Amino acid sequence: MSIVTLPDYRVQSPDVAARFSRLQQRPVALEVRGLTKRFETPRGTVTALDNVSFSVHKRELMCVIGPSGCGKSTLVRILAGLETPSSGEVRVYDEAVSGPGPDRGMVFQGYTLFPWMSVKENVMFGPRMAGKSGFIAEREAREWIDLVGLSKFENAYPHQLSGGMKQRVAIARALANQPRVLFMDEPFGALDAQTRCKMQSYLLEIWKNVDITIVFITHDLDEAVFLSDRILVLDANPGRVREVVEVPVPRPRSEAQIFEPTFVATRKHIDHMMHPPGQEQKDTPVMRLAVSDPDVI
Ligand SMILES: Nc1ncnc2c1ncn2[C@@H]1O[C@H](COP(=O)(O)OP(=O)(O)OP(=O)(O)O)[C@@H](O)[C@H]1O
Ligand SMILES: [Mg+2]
Repeated sequence: MSIVTLPDYRVQSPDVAARFSRLQQRPVALEVRGLTKRFETPRGTVTALDNVSFSVHKRELMCVIGPSGCGKSTLVRILAGLETPSSGEVRVYDEAVSGPGPDRGMVFQGYTLFPWMSVKENVMFGPRMAGKSGFIAEREAREWIDLVGLSKFENAYPHQLSGGMKQRVAIARALANQPRVLFMDEPFGALDAQTRCKMQSYLLEIWKNVDITIVFITHDLDEAVFLSDRILVLDANPGRVREVVEVPVPRPRSEAQIFEPTFVATRKHIDHMMHPPGQEQKDTPVMRLAVSDPDVI
């Protein structure tokens, strides 16, 4: 039996290192400084986020990963301006965030399309609200729908679409508002594994063609490594930054890369951070049978 030695995830090929050095020279699109969020609950104060700081560069794709309850959704809601932090600051292209704004778009896990509107009407909604004429909004909507590969379905209604198609419309709808930063909170979480993989490739294809910075929340390790330039790893209780990992896997990404040593090494490193060896038993609740049953193994 041969034993494969994995490389150190911090070792980057010259191409990947050059890419990161270019990335760091780009303007900062999103700056998060000392973000803390506490919730007062009947059971006392819950510190969802504790002094979280990081920055994301223009056209970077950063995934945020961490165990359930570590504050990922709270973080993204604050970044989108839907929630106010207890302390700390969020800046988008050096402007302080104090509420929702068209410079930031959101795609959630749940399907959030208007069921009574067609695909085209859903995508036109934002531009129409922004005061664009029906003609311009329709023309732009068609371009976004084309970008997500759904031109044949522009007159379909959400109930006539698959889960993956609905999320592609949700992406088109968010992009139609021309945000500078797109936040995605587990957008593919409800999809089956195969559709999810396809959606990840679609997203990278869309990102390649649109000038946008993406912050993508997930708890799927493969998804995080496949999509990201860098991965922000959060600890739980309270949510703190554990590490920002530079993914050493070259771009363009392809599904075949998930078997490459750099991919596997990065995945393994993050997995160890999230599930330290020996922790599993502590975390798993044990159900005891009242009567011992010889048929239960
Ligand atoms: N409105 C609220 N009121 C009270 N506590 C809250 C509220 N929102 C979130 N919390 C608490 O803050 C912590 C972080 O929650 P959050 O939903 O941000 O976690 P998450 O990382 O997104 O989890 P998951 O992976 O399960 O989606 C949890 O302990 C949660 O119970
Ligand atoms: Mg969440």
